[in-house]
Amino acid sequence: MAEPHRIFILGAGRVGTALAIALERAGAAPAGLWTRSPASAERARRLTGVPCWQGALPEMIGQATRVILAVSDPATASLAGALLDGGLLRSSEVVLHCAGGRPAAEALAGLGPPLARGTFHPLLAIADPEAGARHLAGAAIALEGDEAARRAGAEVARCLGARPVELPAGGLLAYHTAAVLASNHAVALWAAALELLGLAGVPAEEQLPALQPLISSTLTNLGALGVPAALTGPVRRGDAAQVARALELLDRAAPHLSPLYLAATAQALRLARALSDPAAEPGLQQIEELLRSRA
Ligand SMILES: NC(=O)c1ccc[n+]([C@@H]2O[C@H](COP(=O)([O-])OP(=O)(O)OC[C@H]3O[C@@H](n4cnc5c(N)ncnc54)[C@H](OP(=O)(O)O)[C@@H]3O)[C@@H](O)[C@H]2O)c1
Repeated sequence: MAEPHRIFILGAGRVGTALAIALERAGAAPAGLWTRSPASAERARRLTGVPCWQGALPEMIGQATRVILAVSDPATASLAGALLDGGLLRSSEVVLHCAGGRPAAEALAGLGPPLARGTFHPLLAIADPEAGARHLAGAAIALEGDEAARRAGAEVARCLGARPVELPAGGLLAYHTAAVLASNHAVALWAAALELLGLAGVPAEEQLPALQPLISSTLTNLGALGVPAALTGPVRRGDAAQVARALELLDRAAPHLSPLYLAATAQALRLARALSDPAAEPGLQQIEELLRSRA
């Protein structure tokens, strides 16, 4: 029987530690974990049962057949270079990195054959390792790079109960931009909504509890109905007067939010049109004119 792969993870931040916890729970504990600072190493030791190093890169990495770099994006290339220069990739067949913004050939430009380079990007917002480890099961993991690296990444993803999604190098930027819009910019949008609840007079401690069920029910609708059917609200109904009134308020009381509202209205208008509701069409026409007058 073939020997199981020895995985070594570099970076014990949110992603590296979440991966170590989840792999250990899946019965495929990494051989080791390295991180830069004593504090991160201490936390990783506490949360995982995985041997953990800090500071100088340990010789032990040289025995790993698969290396996963889960460090900050700018540190990825220099760390890969340090591993190569230190002879620590001598047993490695595959090096994966977790940054979704750059293809492996760029992020790991210093490495090359016979090493296979790949991107292994969990499509998740991992804010803490323990929750991240739980959410990895069922998450999509984008894989990109050399064939052997994509194969290895898919094995790791399946071991975690995640869904491997293979992407061409040219698709990674669109993929990453989608992730940013869906998660980071959604938080920015919700922050704008909270600000407006404050403006409406909702007490600070009530704002988030008031907004959360709205967001949850919207996500439930999205999962059940998809787009465009999950769209509700004034644009869907073609209520141009309400859109105009909202814009007047924003221009007057929160002008920094007007461009955001206009951009989101334009995208909602595209969805509303896709619903082909004849009753809404005259209003949609007026909304289109309103947007054109503000362009
Ligand atoms: N968080 C997410 O939701 C998410 C999702 C998908 C992909 N990713 C990607 O996963 C990777 C890790 O992200 P993260 O959220 O886990 O970040 P993080 O929690 O900030 O952890 C970053 C890790 O990088 C290490 N590090 C930072 N600068 C370094 C340097 N100059 N040299 C060596 N190590 C350095 C840190 O070490 P110390 O703590 O020991 O100093 C820490 O272990 C990134 O490429 C990120 O884009 C993140």
